[in-house]
Amino acid sequence: MPKKIAVLTSGGDAPGMNAAVRAVVRCGISAGLEVELIYRGYEGLLAGEFEKVDSKAVSNMLSRGGSFIGCARSAEMLQPHGPGKAAGILKDHGIDCLLAIGGDGTFRGAKALMKNGANVIGLTGTIDNDIPGMDRTLGFDTACDTLAWCINRLRDTAESHHRTFVIEAMGRNAGWLALHAGMACGADVILIPEIPWDREEVLDTVTRRISDGRTFSLVVIAEGAGRATDLTGFLNQHLPEMHEVRACIPGHIQRGGAPTTVDRILASRTGFAAVQAYLAGRTGMVVGQLRGEVVEVAFDVATSGIRGIDRSLYDLAMVLA
Ligand code: F6P
Repeated sequence: MPKKIAVLTSGGDAPGMNAAVRAVVRCGISAGLEVELIYRGYEGLLAGEFEKVDSKAVSNMLSRGGSFIGCARSAEMLQPHGPGKAAGILKDHGIDCLLAIGGDGTFRGAKALMKNGANVIGLTGTIDNDIPGMDRTLGFDTACDTLAWCINRLRDTAESHHRTFVIEAMGRNAGWLALHAGMACGADVILIPEIPWDREEVLDTVTRRISDGRTFSLVVIAEGAGRATDLTGFLNQHLPEMHEVRACIPGHIQRGGAPTTVDRILASRTGFAAVQAYLAGRTGMVVGQLRGEVVEVAFDVATSGIRGIDRSLYDLAMVLA
């Protein structure tokens, strides 16, 4: 009997998840394994939503955004009985190893599953780029491009109307997305949770720019650093009435869209590496990328907090602004 592995996507979806599922399915099958999809993340696992697939099942998935097998945030997995129940279901289905694609919440769930006797390997899939031990999570590159696309368009209208825009980036408690997209678009102010900021300083910057003859400003604020609407309200109260400030929250647009080639290749490499690790008898870790190389990072490390920001990049962005 061939050994059986299963793959799921969990937490918030990220561009490239489908490409990673495709890589796991095709690499698994070509190594002689049986591969099952689990729909709707840990929710679907707990509900027994498994399906055995062949290579054709993942045709046309490389370039597709979202997750065709569904994502969910499972409340039951967080209950004391959840991980034990899920491990039992994996065992009943004859699954020798679960490959879980997601972010820190997914990996905490994976750790709990392992404590209950399941073999699990994680693969990154989060736009937040916040996993310790690696420097590029799957979906981050695409989300940066998408957010940059939004900011570039806001620049056009800000310039036309002589306005300031405050753009709120996703990223949960991490400022990576705001920093990278903000820097790539030449934002005048970038506010991230890792670096203390003060709304009076933002007001000073925009005021100085207006008196320097700059007709518009772009402020990017990470959601973990504050709300675009609050900062917009404050700036509108204190700036001259003729200089309007508007908030823009691209929100879940940042999670959608076809993955970039960078994310497609990352998904393919990590999917392959995860299957190879399983075949070599290694589980209990996340497969991801660090300095261009595929690395394996123990679940304990990958769930040990938020990956710190690259301060030199932030300083550079501020010098260039
Ligand atoms: O973790 C990915 C992410 O998009 C975060 O950046 C954001 O804070 C969160 O998920 C939003 O979650 P939901 O889709 O459940 O609103």
